[in-house]
Amino acid sequence: MKKIVIAVDGYSSTGKSTLAKALAKKMNYVFVDSGAMYRAITLYFLRERINWDNTAEVNAALQNITLDFEYNAEKGKSDMLLNEENVEVEIREMLVSEKVSDVSTVKEVREFAVAQQQKMGEKKGIVMDGRDIGTTVFPDAELKIFVTAAPEVRVERRFKQLYEINPSINIEDVKKNLEMRDYIDSHREVSPLRQADDAIVLDNSDLTREEQLAKALKLVDERIN
Ligand code: DC
Repeated sequence: MKKIVIAVDGYSSTGKSTLAKALAKKMNYVFVDSGAMYRAITLYFLRERINWDNTAEVNAALQNITLDFEYNAEKGKSDMLLNEENVEVEIREMLVSEKVSDVSTVKEVREFAVAQQQKMGEKKGIVMDGRDIGTTVFPDAELKIFVTAAPEVRVERRFKQLYEINPSINIEDVKKNLEMRDYIDSHREVSPLRQADDAIVLDNSDLTREEQLAKALKLVDERIN
């Protein structure tokens, strides 16, 4: 069967990763969470106290970063490796979430991540989720889905996710972090988050995971056949 590239973009906590993951599993495609790559770079910068406003420092730091994904059979998804260390849990913590949008505005960081993402898509048969996948990483993707959900639904979803890692989390902090990231992600100079002209909007506020997946699979079917 013909293999295609599927770009899934949208704001934070719209459920795009859940959809992208389910889609990849169903189709036996590779799933790539591009946000995890920006999170791992952010973690490295925080640990090494890199000043990301300083281009020379950023360029030197990027040379020391290797990013890989390692399949975790228990979870049925890949974990993020930073220089061979599994950082999957740490990159989801608030400390990284607070800084990742800022780090993602840095041109050199984006070029570094995008080059690797494009390489992953060379053989097609891939579902990648992120902010600029349909616009910058794979502008020729056969299918582009732009996922949206009502703001209160997104805050609730994010809160639930973070609560599992840290039960002392406060819902107001989660809301503020989401609003801040929405703003930075959509206002940055280099490849801001925006819906590609040829993307299909999927609002999942009132959809179950199964309903959402069914809609996406229908779109895939149309593109393949
Ligand atoms: O999908 P996520 O919330 O884990 O992404 C974390 C951050 O990474 C997000 O706030 C913006 C950035 N990001 C990006 O700039 N481009 C992407 N393709 C994916 C994520």
